[in-house]
Amino acid sequence: MFVQRLIGFAILVLLPLAARADDIIHPGQVWLDDRGKEIQAHGGGMLRLGKTFYWFGEDRTASNDPKKRYVSCYSSDDLVHWKFRNQVLKLSDPENLGDHWVLERPKVFYNARTKKFVLYAHLDDRRYKVARVMVAVSETVDGDYRYVKSFRPLGKESRDIGQFVDDDGTAYLIFESRPTRGFFIARLSDDFMDVEKEICLVDAPLEGGAVVHYGGLYYAIGSHLTGWRPNPNVYATATSLAGPWSAFRDIAPPEVNTYGSQSTMMLKVKGSKSTTVIYMGDIWKPKELFDSRYLWMPLTIAGGKLILPPPKSWKINVKGGRYKILH
Ligand code: GAL
Repeated sequence: MFVQRLIGFAILVLLPLAARADDIIHPGQVWLDDRGKEIQAHGGGMLRLGKTFYWFGEDRTASNDPKKRYVSCYSSDDLVHWKFRNQVLKLSDPENLGDHWVLERPKVFYNARTKKFVLYAHLDDRRYKVARVMVAVSETVDGDYRYVKSFRPLGKESRDIGQFVDDDGTAYLIFESRPTRGFFIARLSDDFMDVEKEICLVDAPLEGGAVVHYGGLYYAIGSHLTGWRPNPNVYATATSLAGPWSAFRDIAPPEVNTYGSQSTMMLKVKGSKSTTVIYMGDIWKPKELFDSRYLWMPLTIAGGKLILPPPKSWKINVKGGRYKILH
């Protein structure tokens, strides 16, 4: 009885405290939005417009219509406090994919020329045999995105996708391709509505691919192919996006399995004093996907080395670009 009461107390009192409203990022803990609801932005991506960050991801809310798939959008100026903006996609099976069809890892790009927001996501059937990307479009960042089409980028099977926008504004889709092994980095067309040109195939059987351009080098990270189960994520470097890429090395001691997470994106926060690169990972809970958590940590990154430090609470000053890990 006492033990039950203690557990009840822990859930009622300590859990909300763990998700308290401060200026601190608590990796792996419940992360609430401005409505007090768990943020639903799994397998997510990030878009920055001026000083505001827009976080898009899979919305796995338990009460969602099981026939539809949802993408949510949140905004923040400090990367800590997130305002729910909209379920920007509430999509019914667009291609007769059947029960348990899959929409994963949505990423939104802003095309300055057409002034449109272009959403890419992995589209699949329950057995992951379709292996396509889908594209949806909106005139506003948090509007209702309209489904446009689906296709296999460059005619290839495509499962996990990632987004990368280089410092010159060129936008790339990263997509995992099983038959050829590895992930492709491919340039989007001028209007971002197509995947136009293969830049390289990073030749290693990895998914959850993410790229960042930092200190004159490109860093690519990815996870091994173990489904929802975590594994030791790895990284490689190159002086050009086209490669050649170095051999892959662990981002953390292999026995910690990326601290239970899987990569989805690296976010470069360039401030007036410094630049921080944030590892954005998902801690998946396959049986309760809605309660999957986020592991965000600043990477130790320099001179061709990249390390994901052990998760601890930390804070960032977005304006200055500096971070501090708390002890
Ligand atoms: C992972 C992938 C996730 C999801 C999952 C399904 O490998 O990264 O996005 O597809 O498999 O098992």
